Amino acid sequence: MEHNNHITYEGLLAGNKQFIANALKEDPQYFEKLTVQNPPVLWIGCADSRVPANQITNTKPGEIFVHRNIANMVIHTDMNMLSVLDYAVNVLKVKHVIVTGHYGCGGVLAAMSDQQFGLIDNWLRHIKDVYRVHEKELDAITDEKERSNRLVEWNVIENVNNLCKTSIVQNAWKSGQELNVHGWVYSLATGVINDMNVSTSNNDKLDKVFKFK
Ligand code: CO
Repeated sequence: MEHNNHITYEGLLAGNKQFIANALKEDPQYFEKLTVQNPPVLWIGCADSRVPANQITNTKPGEIFVHRNIANMVIHTDMNMLSVLDYAVNVLKVKHVIVTGHYGCGGVLAAMSDQQFGLIDNWLRHIKDVYRVHEKELDAITDEKERSNRLVEWNVIENVNNLCKTSIVQNAWKSGQELNVHGWVYSLATGVINDMNVSTSNNDKLDKVFKFK
């Protein structure tokens, strides 16, 4: 792993000056054009520094509304996530919500282990719940890396399901608003995004107990 010691506090501010110069060189109206935002996508991704939403999708500022936390989780009591989701769906009227995980996710690896990591154990508990639900399939995978990759995928799929279970998403669907939810997994090794093919725009597949009228 390359060391990032060359990234200094002062260096970040110098980088900002360079960003402004580059942006204005490309488009003198760059900042005027971004006085309002109208992003069609909400991204729920991992906080991991190697998975930046814009770079890996070749998009620009203003194009993706972003929420990131450890292991790209959609936890129904998380006021931060719910506030972002509510604003994105009901004010920005995004057309897509994408949960993006990544192979080799430290949060998922930690959740698979029997080690304690402190406070974060309570956050990672949600991933242990995902493991429990898919234990049979996961335990049958002997290669540990393969098993963790599969858990990364299930974690994305279950968090897409968690999105569908929210009243925010179900109310948007009920009112006829166009809203598609998707699950992706990004490969740090190749840069490729793997679509989990769980895209949905209705609550048909939800267990009955989670469906709102
Ligand atoms: Co991660």
